[in-house]
Amino acid sequence: MLSKKIASALNEQIEMEGYASNYYLAAASWCDSKSLQGCASFLLRHADEERMHMMKLFSYINDAGGHAVVPAFKQPPEKFKSLLELFEDIFKHELKVTDAINNLVELCLKEKDYATNHFLQWYVEEQHEEEKLFRTILDKIKLLEGEGPRGIYWIDRELASMKPAS
Ligand code: FEO
Repeated sequence: MLSKKIASALNEQIEMEGYASNYYLAAASWCDSKSLQGCASFLLRHADEERMHMMKLFSYINDAGGHAVVPAFKQPPEKFKSLLELFEDIFKHELKVTDAINNLVELCLKEKDYATNHFLQWYVEEQHEEEKLFRTILDKIKLLEGEGPRGIYWIDRELASMKPAS
């Protein structure tokens, strides 16, 4: 049975994963508006991944005797200065998600909630993969930065076939 404290912390994580899904959706829309269809399709796939992360939490909370709450989401940005800025923002957001997951794990250990700690290990691994994925994308963008539009074209092609972290 989930304690109120753990249920509330997991509900906060629902908000974070749902916001991430909306953020990826907004980023996909911006890319589409710039005819960067490869980036847009990658980001759309990732928006679905984040929704799945949110839904896993949603089910877990209710299965463990808590009450999953559907939160209000703040609006994600509509515009980005560049593809580099967009992926830098995403990377920063993923680092925040990693911190939040680590804090949740810490709380579970403190409260001796080993079942939820076990459940959260999937997210620990997932964040490791996501950080690696977005660090790689950022490295590639920086590598091709001096190439101007041709560099953007190659990044767009690369992301078209790139898979989300899981
Ligand atoms: Fe579900 Fe990208 O954090």
